[in-house]
Amino acid sequence: MGKQDDTRERVLDLIESLAVGRAIPSERQLSQELGVSRLTLRAAIDELVRDGRLDRRHGSGTFVTEPKIAQPLTLTSFTDDMRRRGMTPSSRTLDLSLVSAGARLARRLQVSPEERIVRVQRLRLADGETMALEVLHVPETLVPGLAKGDLENRSFYDLLQERYEIVIASGTQTIEPTVTNEEESALLGVPLHTPAFLFERTTRSESGRTVEFVRSVYRGDRYQLVTELLPRRARSRARGETAALGGDGITMTADSFGNRNHRRKE
Ligand code: GLP
Repeated sequence: MGKQDDTRERVLDLIESLAVGRAIPSERQLSQELGVSRLTLRAAIDELVRDGRLDRRHGSGTFVTEPKIAQPLTLTSFTDDMRRRGMTPSSRTLDLSLVSAGARLARRLQVSPEERIVRVQRLRLADGETMALEVLHVPETLVPGLAKGDLENRSFYDLLQERYEIVIASGTQTIEPTVTNEEESALLGVPLHTPAFLFERTTRSESGRTVEFVRSVYRGDRYQLVTELLPRRARSRARGETAALGGDGITMTADSFGNRNHRRKE
């Protein structure tokens, strides 16, 4: 292990022994305690700040942050995910507008390009802290009369079920690493180009109709993804073999320069 990795591990041990919100010792003191140069220590701390494990506040010190939220890859709603963790979900509807689907959205939602689509931009919070920014698209015919206030502090999946009698039964989701752009950074209250996860989810109802296409940007400093690993056979049996994806769910394509790239599935 390199010196910086080793230092990072030792600072992580220290973080785990401290309560959330406590400050770690000063760089001078810590470099002495760990017997490493201040340069090595600073690089290790920088990495932990980038990973969201530490929060550096200028002038006052470097503090232990809340542990990341372990996000299982299941078809659950944001509201359920947060409640299961004992957190209070809330949601601010930033915009609701009607757009015509156009070619790409039409393909995703399996409608004609002229179809009217409700587009809702929502900021998702847990215990009052920003977590994700979501842009939801749903054909208007499925949610007639849906208004901006309906989704304020409300689960979309619950609303679908209660008011429109639509139950989400299956879906497909892709996940890609990304960084926040200017708008996302401002709304999430994080620095520009903060690492984030881009989730794109398409779901279907019990009757097989495509209900929504959602593009969500989740804070990379607050989330980690967890997935159960099952032997391939057991998994195929459990899900009824996946036709579209490779066994590991990752698609690889070659770009125009001949490099191999992980690419999003359309
Ligand atoms: C997650 C998914 C979204 C989905 C949402 C529903 O955040 N990434 O695709 O629309 O859950 O959550 P809720 O029912 O709380 O609105």
